[in-house]
Amino acid sequence: MVKILPRHIAIIMDGNGRWSKNQSKPRHLGHEAGLETLKNTIEAVAKRGIPHLTVFAFGVENWLRPDEEVNYLMGLFLRALNRDIERLHENEIRLRFIGNRAGLQADLIESMEEAERLTEQNHKMTLIVAFNYSGRWDLVQACQSLAEKVAENKLASSDINETLISQHLSTAAFPDPDLFIRTSGEQRLSNFLLWQLSYAELYFPEKYWPEFDEEELEKALDFYATRERRFGQISEQIGGILSSEPRVQASEGTE
Ligand code: IPE
Ligand code: IPE
Ligand code: MG
Repeated sequence: MVKILPRHIAIIMDGNGRWSKNQSKPRHLGHEAGLETLKNTIEAVAKRGIPHLTVFAFGVENWLRPDEEVNYLMGLFLRALNRDIERLHENEIRLRFIGNRAGLQADLIESMEEAERLTEQNHKMTLIVAFNYSGRWDLVQACQSLAEKVAENKLASSDINETLISQHLSTAAFPDPDLFIRTSGEQRLSNFLLWQLSYAELYFPEKYWPEFDEEELEKALDFYATRERRFGQISEQIGGILSSEPRVQASEGTE
């Protein structure tokens, strides 16, 4: 039987710190190991023909960590971006960033923009990296741009609906995630894609992110394939069969 696959997976890559502690290693080695897991996961997801993968790499609240760790994460991100972008490009993966770019270092922004430009025409999979991201920030910036349009008489406030809000979020071009994975056993959203995850199936493996491998991904996909997505309806209305095809979905994205 063909397994129903999600069109979009969103992941909170959590547990790097606890993994390193368990191994009596410094925290930064957990983040290095987490980067390797990310690279393997990107390839495993792309190989399965899943068109969108979003990963939470740095949240707005992560600035509250010790300076040393924040600096390390910024450096790691820049290094990884400059070093691994060619490989992503060769694998025909398009890279997009969501999050607040204001407040990031100029060289980082430059590398992010360069990577987006380079990979723009790739069609195998879109990798969306949430960096300096927060779900509440995303909703605030969407409200601000809608309010500006109302102030300029380009839009009536009564025209604002769910579709329009989705179209002003940083994820406007992508469909909502179908499957959400957070590793390390934590079961919270931590200000990730608050609006977009409304109807995602939620999966919480116990493994720390550096231990997440293809076998774990397969388990997550098995979990997803056995969900009956009802979107408010009852089982009989959707044919009583396991289906991932929504009759109603808040955001279809434009891609
Ligand atoms: C997630 O792992 C990575 C980032 C936030 C960048 P953590 O660093 O949160 O790991 P734990 O939660 O401390 O184990
Ligand atoms: C969320 O993880 C952010 C990322 C993985 C980038 P955290 O580990 O920072 O979240 P909390 O603070 O435990 O909720
Ligand atoms: Mg954590």
